Amino acid sequence: MEKRTGFASNFGFLMAAIGSAVGLGNIWGFPYRMGKGGGFAFLLVYLVLAALCGAVVLLGELALGRRTGGNAVSAYQAVSRRFKWVGVPAVAAAVLILSFYSALGGYCIRYLMLNVGGLLGAGWGAGGLDGSTLFAATLTQQGAAIGNGAIFLALTAVIVLFGVRRGIERFCSVGMPVLLVMLLIIILRACTLPGAGAGLSFMFKPDFTPLKEDFLGVLKTAGGQMFFSLSIAAGVMVTYGSYTDKRQDLGKNTVLIVISDTAVGLLAGMAVLPAAFALGAPEDAMRGPALLFVTLQDVFGSMGRTGYVFGILFYLLVVLAALASSVSMLEVPVAYLTDRALARSEGRKTAGASRRWLYTLLITLLAGVFCTVTCADGLGSNGLWVPLQSLFRARGEIPTFCDCWLDLLDFLSEGLLMPLGGLLTCLMIGWELKPDWVGDEVRRSGARFGAYRFYAVCVRYITPLIMLFILWGQLKDFLGL
Ligand code: PHE
Repeated sequence: MEKRTGFASNFGFLMAAIGSAVGLGNIWGFPYRMGKGGGFAFLLVYLVLAALCGAVVLLGELALGRRTGGNAVSAYQAVSRRFKWVGVPAVAAAVLILSFYSALGGYCIRYLMLNVGGLLGAGWGAGGLDGSTLFAATLTQQGAAIGNGAIFLALTAVIVLFGVRRGIERFCSVGMPVLLVMLLIIILRACTLPGAGAGLSFMFKPDFTPLKEDFLGVLKTAGGQMFFSLSIAAGVMVTYGSYTDKRQDLGKNTVLIVISDTAVGLLAGMAVLPAAFALGAPEDAMRGPALLFVTLQDVFGSMGRTGYVFGILFYLLVVLAALASSVSMLEVPVAYLTDRALARSEGRKTAGASRRWLYTLLITLLAGVFCTVTCADGLGSNGLWVPLQSLFRARGEIPTFCDCWLDLLDFLSEGLLMPLGGLLTCLMIGWELKPDWVGDEVRRSGARFGAYRFYAVCVRYITPLIMLFILWGQLKDFLGL
């Protein structure tokens, strides 16, 4: 079998893994949820969950990938009898997320262009139009939305085609530091707007009432957020782990990834919420797509010409963050299919590179089909048929999971496949392989595994329980139970 190339350096690996973790989830999910969930109180709950659950699964996935040298599917097959198929839902989740993520990435590209046009004073720019008008047009102009989604997906495919080292690692090693600088510039601008302080206090003011009133609700929100944000249970960390070498300290890397992801969530909050509050936006305009595509655009629009400069900087930043995530999603199925084809053709001469080409193309096309449907649907604005919707309509109430195509794909991946896969991975490591299996792998670099005892207790008892709880919470939320 041809040797797979991996990351050239630990820095490259870290940038790729942090790049995968940092994405739309951090920018539009974290700040609002933190504000709603009680500010510092939410952050505390989030960090405890990240330590007891997120880091445990993340470390397990990295170790699984590195120890077996396999992809998201073969890694499980190599080590387990009972859990040998757990990698399959992870690969499916990666493809599903890639589909709707590309639709959203396409919207970001459109906003980037709208601001470029605004700056140039071009007719196709944002000039003078408010955020809600622009967003309505973005959702209902199906052709443009599909085109932009296709551009985003094509950019993703090109980076993946260049390979792990020359494509993903290089892109992330340059892109992530650039992203941080841009984020800092936006924060400076946002926090010096008159009235910005209210945004910071919304986000950071410790308020324990949400914890007292609905502790389980906060736990559930923080849990779901953490899962998606850390890119766990989607095959990404297993695949990336297989591209690292024996010298790297997996424990330290895990901690660095979790801390960086949380830090970027906090920084993103300091960039978007003060600006939204300075504008006096109502609270429901600070959540999800509305925050990014209506409220913030209004902020930029209200600043005159320099606003467009900040708009360009901001949407470029979001596109970068989204791309570093989407390449990781595409790499998961591509690595699996390429490895499989190479293993099957052992003995015969097959060019691995051309296989990789073919599979990248095929998966991109597959994700492209779902992306097209998601764009045509425009978050439900265009009245496209959505599976199961009419069934529920007849009964009177439509649960959120089939509100629109994006919600449906999100439910299948984030609501179902990921928590289930994460739970099974944890059970496999804790009970079939035993915690020492991961312990040995961590120590192989010569590193000390100081928190081993803590890890062992978590992976067997605490983490699976939290996972079960998150799965239940997700199902309840999506199905509106
Ligand atoms: N972590 C990414 C974000 O926060 C999303 C993601 C999920 C990326 C699963 C890869 C795999 O936006």
